[in-house]
Amino acid sequence: MLFLEVPQDIKWRVVSADSAVDDPSAVLSPDELARMESFGHADRRRGFAFGRIAARSLLAERLDVAPVDVPLAVASDDGLFVEGHPIHVSISHAGHAAHGQSIAVIADRPIGVDLEEIVPRRDDLYRRILHPDEYSLLETLGLDHNEAQILLWSLKEAVLKGLRTGFRRSAQTVRLDDLSDGKGHAHMDDGPSWNLRYTRREDFWITLAFLD
Ligand SMILES: CC(C)(COP(=O)(O)OP(=O)(O)OC[C@H]1O[C@@H](n2cnc3c(N)ncnc32)[C@H](O)[C@@H]1OP(=O)(O)O)[C@@H](O)C(=O)NCCC(=O)NCCS
Repeated sequence: MLFLEVPQDIKWRVVSADSAVDDPSAVLSPDELARMESFGHADRRRGFAFGRIAARSLLAERLDVAPVDVPLAVASDDGLFVEGHPIHVSISHAGHAAHGQSIAVIADRPIGVDLEEIVPRRDDLYRRILHPDEYSLLETLGLDHNEAQILLWSLKEAVLKGLRTGFRRSAQTVRLDDLSDGKGHAHMDDGPSWNLRYTRREDFWITLAFLD
């Protein structure tokens, strides 16, 4: 069990080099294979393949079709959608080389997922995403500074992916609240609150944001 208490429609899958996965050429669509080949860096190619394999295998189970036949497509906002089905999908990648991994989530509601490797980052990273009123979160989580700022970054990124704006919207407009024991909320002035979940898996934070 990766996350505490999520609604039953939410399913996730992590794919890494340790996973027993099918050959991408047997799972990805022709467009996805072409896109994968266009990436210059091996990490990006691997992450892209792992993310699509994770999403397609989850959706294949849900739709009862072969993974390669899942009508997974890229929307004009660069997020994903499933043609003809009201299923929400989110993917995230992190890590390098053999340490690289991807996660996909599917749900019947808007959802965003983020995966961040816990590696040393500049000490003031948090200033780019937190509103000054949120700086106290860095202490109240009971984590070391770097772990805390990466977690807070990841939670906001998960919300921004659920909103489908990504960082086109300022992360400071998303305000984190009630964070403890792997759960919390995010509020904003112009929309409903998001439910948050977070968990640590090895050296990675995995965060999830979803609407009621
Ligand atoms: C969405 C965004 C936060 C993802 O950042 P990232 O560093 O690629 O992080 P992740 O690995 O967690 O997520 C990648 C996945 O996000 C998804 N994604 C891309 N744009 C998205 C959007 N607008 N909404 C939801 N999901 C999106 C894609 O499925 C992508 O995976 P894929 O490339 O394998 O298809 C970032 O691309 C963004 O802010 N985009 C919008 C603004 C922009 O283009 N800014 C330039 C850089 S700031």
